[in-house]
Amino acid sequence: MEAPLLRVEHLAKAYGQVVTARDVSFDVAAGEALGVVGPNGAGKSTLLNLVTGTARSDGGTLLLDGQDVTRWSAPRRSAAGVGRSYQVPRPFAGMTVFENVLVGARFGGGHGGREARRLAIDALERTGMAHLANTPAGRLRLLDRKRLELARALATGPRLILLDEIAGGLTDAELPELVALVAELRDAGLAVVWIEHIVHALLQVVDRLMCLALGDVVAIGDPATVMRDPRVVEVYLGSTVDPGPAAAS
Ligand SMILES: Nc1ncnc2c1ncn2[C@@H]1O[C@H](COP(=O)(O)OP(=O)(O)O)[C@@H](O)[C@H]1O
Ligand SMILES: [Mg+2]
Repeated sequence: MEAPLLRVEHLAKAYGQVVTARDVSFDVAAGEALGVVGPNGAGKSTLLNLVTGTARSDGGTLLLDGQDVTRWSAPRRSAAGVGRSYQVPRPFAGMTVFENVLVGARFGGGHGGREARRLAIDALERTGMAHLANTPAGRLRLLDRKRLELARALATGPRLILLDEIAGGLTDAELPELVALVAELRDAGLAVVWIEHIVHALLQVVDRLMCLALGDVVAIGDPATVMRDPRVVEVYLGSTVDPGPAAAS
């Protein structure tokens, strides 16, 4: 069998006493979308940082296409096809949409000159942003800022794209557009790891779902089955029911 595009084996990470990954293992195949859910502080964003290389793991192995990239720097992983969006988008507000995407291609993807321009144009077309190429990024409405964030990640020429809570703040009318866009990327053969609080949006796209809590994989597999898993239900109840100061004393 072909090696999965991403294989995470026994990943471990702690910040002091806070364990953000405890023996975390999972695979993502090319053309597969894996959703990630879990309460705040579960270690979801840290997991993406560990995969991109912006955070260093304490243990475990990361394989990209069967190749051990555990010791690779973030830029080297990015050039090898690991792209990401950030939970808090930070476009260069004074630069145009095109210039922002070009930065992704040049610095994220390590591409030069003509190739960078080609990747940037392609990313704008794939995200439906071509008509906004010359608009200053600071003037975009929220949905288009989200699209720009996706375009910037795409312009690095990724094979794996990691999305961190990109749906937050969108209206009910805008959500399906973002969902459709992520589905298109997956259908075009990209591997997608999508962390999202808005679970109903996630469930429209993902092939498998993983629930994390306090650095542990609570469940992973078929999305509907994971959502029904009593351990997952418990994690969610625990995060939504605030016992308040009286119960804590
Ligand atoms: N750079 C860091 N330094 C110290 N603690 C961190 C750092 N990044 C994350 N943490 C802690 O790790 C835990 C998991 O954080 P995070 O991965 O952001 O969770 P999530 O994205 O699931 O909400 C939290 O308790 C957070 O405070
Ligand atoms: Mg997070």
